[in-house]
Amino acid sequence: MKNKLVKNSLFLLCILLGVLNFASSAFAGAPAGIESESGATPLWKKGEVLYRHYCIHCHGKEGGGDGFNAEFLDKEPAELSDINFIRKKDNRQIFRVIKFGGVGVRKSHLMPVFGFTFSERQIWSLVAYVRKLAGDDNNKVELPPEAEENRPTIEPVTTLDRDRILELYRDEKSRNALIQLGEHLFFKKKSCFACHSVDDEGGKVGPDLSRAGYLYNPEWLYIWVHDPQRVKPNTKMPNLGLNEKEAAAIAFFLSILKGESEDPLEEWEELKIFLEGKGNAQNGEALFFDAKGKAGCAKCHTVQGKGGGVGPNLSFVGSSRTPHFLLESIIEPNSVITVGFNSSVVVTKTGEVVKGIKKKESDEFVEIVDGEGSAKKIDKKDIEKIEIEEDSLMPKDFKDRLSDQEIRDVLAFLESLKIPLKEESTAGK
Ligand code: HEC
Ligand code: HEC
Ligand code: HEC
Repeated sequence: MKNKLVKNSLFLLCILLGVLNFASSAFAGAPAGIESESGATPLWKKGEVLYRHYCIHCHGKEGGGDGFNAEFLDKEPAELSDINFIRKKDNRQIFRVIKFGGVGVRKSHLMPVFGFTFSERQIWSLVAYVRKLAGDDNNKVELPPEAEENRPTIEPVTTLDRDRILELYRDEKSRNALIQLGEHLFFKKKSCFACHSVDDEGGKVGPDLSRAGYLYNPEWLYIWVHDPQRVKPNTKMPNLGLNEKEAAAIAFFLSILKGESEDPLEEWEELKIFLEGKGNAQNGEALFFDAKGKAGCAKCHTVQGKGGGVGPNLSFVGSSRTPHFLLESIIEPNSVITVGFNSSVVVTKTGEVVKGIKKKESDEFVEIVDGEGSAKKIDKKDIEKIEIEEDSLMPKDFKDRLSDQEIRDVLAFLESLKIPLKEESTAGK
């Protein structure tokens, strides 16, 4: 019964966010905490699906410790395919390092905690897959009957929590004290630096955070790091099990990061008029959804279930992004490319060139969706080369296509798109 509730609410969230269409084939679409109980599937098979979504970037496809992110880490990810290394560990030890992370077993903090993202059963399936990667048949992995089926419950952020956090943020003294703690947690303790870079150092699994202070609101940073899976069920970012103080500290630390380069808006003095002027959100909404109009944003973007899936879902973009970031996205789409939305250019052996966003990939094919939203499945055998570009598929000429007032209107509409928070405090906090 409880499981069903969890399932239903996650399902609703998926619909709400429209994230189902991002689900890559590598990840068979099952958000953390949900497992289909088909008795026939061996345990390691379930682990394989999770491994490919959550571990491969560091540990590599075959477990060689050579994922694309490995070179950015100060500590090498363990070589899970090394049978001598894995044989020395019993199943409980492997279980513990996945559940509690490197820090939890006195190893490197660059190995993240996964016990707040997965159920115990899912972790056991990963243990089975780690044995499989090493080709170690001697240590059988059995699912202990007491293993929890559900992911640990993480209370949603309420309006009261948010107000408390914002109060701390506005008070300079408490903010500064927390910023120091946040910096320590970010770089030394909570694995953030294993996946995010700041000023060209650190991992590259998630977005570069050098300019996080320009891009994200502090309250959003708090909501996101508190429970990324609630916002986006199949995100590759694990829940790091932060308590309220830690999450606030990290949010405040990130909000002071403004990057080394100059603020692009400082350079374009004339763009300030868009942030200062008043926009009309209703007119902006009409422009956004009018498929034949000058903007036609909904051709590529979904807001609250309506629109296309070429670009990112913008349902909560008014909570998650600063007005500054939103303006940059419209006027200078290439200044920040949303994670997972880089353009790919595929050249086939017959010389055909296909440009678009890679939405799916398996061992056999890739699927590219172009700016018009049409999908093309290309057999890997036919591909000459595939290049990822630092280029947005979003049109670059909105500054000319739209009047100044229309840009302000669209901006006002985007700013009005807020994430709904629970309207009360959680009991027992
Ligand atoms: C951001 C990179 C990163 C990700 C993602 C990651 N790991 Fe690791 N992992 C590491 C690093 C670094 C180490 C080495 C830690 C050390 O030896 O101090 C490690 C070590 C390990 C070890 C060996 C620990 C030991 O006892 O020596 C196991 C097992 C492991 N990881 C499993 C996983 C699994 C399963 C996943 C996915 C659910 C995963 N890792 C995701 C970076 C990562
Ligand atoms: C295993 C890798 C990994 C770790 C560890 C990790 N992140 Fe992330 N993070 C990601 C990925 C991937 C995304 C992109 C999210 C998406 O769109 O699915 C992301 C997104 C983000 C974002 C942007 C959210 C948005 O609205 O777009 C912020 C901010 C962030 N992470 C902060 C952190 C902090 C702070 C920590 C440490 C407490 C952390 N991350 C740890 C992988 C990671
Ligand atoms: C042809 C498809 C297309 C059209 C039309 C389009 N976009 Fe985009 N948009 C994208 C893609 C792809 C991205 C992701 C790459 C990037 O970050 O630029 C994106 C990114 C964004 C982002 C950043 C989202 C985030 O959270 O990181 C915003 C905001 C945005 N678009 C707003 C708009 C608005 C407003 C319009 C209409 C005026 C519009 N877009 C029209 C394809 C499109």
